[in-house]
Amino acid sequence: MIIVNDIEQIQNICRDKSNKGFIPTMGALHKGHISLIQKSRLNLDFIIVSIFINPAQFSENEDLDKYPQNAKNDIKICQDNKVDVLFMPLAKDIYQDYEPKIISDKIDAYKLEGINRPSHFDGVLNVVMKLLNIITPNKLYLGKKDAQQIILIEKMIKSFFLNINVIRCESIRDDDGIAMSSRNIYLSKNDRMKLMQVNKALQKCKNKITNNKTKSDIIIEEIRNNLIKLEINYISIVNHKLKQAKYTIISDTIILISVNINNTNYIDNIWL
Ligand code: PAF
Repeated sequence: MIIVNDIEQIQNICRDKSNKGFIPTMGALHKGHISLIQKSRLNLDFIIVSIFINPAQFSENEDLDKYPQNAKNDIKICQDNKVDVLFMPLAKDIYQDYEPKIISDKIDAYKLEGINRPSHFDGVLNVVMKLLNIITPNKLYLGKKDAQQIILIEKMIKSFFLNINVIRCESIRDDDGIAMSSRNIYLSKNDRMKLMQVNKALQKCKNKITNNKTKSDIIIEEIRNNLIKLEINYISIVNHKLKQAKYTIISDTIILISVNINNTNYIDNIWL
């Protein structure tokens, strides 16, 4: 594996490769990221992982300064999983002082996660577009845990006519059912105990939905009743295009939950 910081260097490396898989990350890699790498390894010849803590997707009151970092462990994980190139660019090379920007779609990007983090998805889309243009992958691997992120990135790829296939990958959970996230290091044992209710509530709903006639409002109410002593930011049911769904349609529904636990935003979902 080689580690590259320089943009021109990685462009030169990537230019010659025809079957490239790309996994963009902000580091602090965990089993969720490993599953993306392993999935890409099965199908593609050349795997690039990027680690870049993207300042543009953090709001002022967020955790940019203390975002988890563990470069040594990240490098080992990438090596052990046969990544070909680990790309770790510098912010000064990624961003220029004055530059055109992608503005995310107000309707889909300013709801759910976008309510409390208004310019978050603008930041995500801009950096992902830059990374895609640098790497020019054939396939992009993203986790379904960040459902809104995947859908917005897919829409951007379509709008800008990029010839990139997005592979939606299943969420990976710890033994207690908590969905893997780099920010989980902020959680105490007690937080985790409380959060276990989230996956349980989602699974319970999934088992109950056997036809396409279930009203979303009823499901939302049931989930709310199952989440005791949790500060709920939202429970929402949308279709795979992120539009509010009145009924839960099997194979076209995502049930999304966000809770605030000890000032940490924990999100989880289930795709039906
Ligand atoms: O999901 C993430 O880790 C980030 O939002 C991403 C896609 C790497 C963009 O910075």
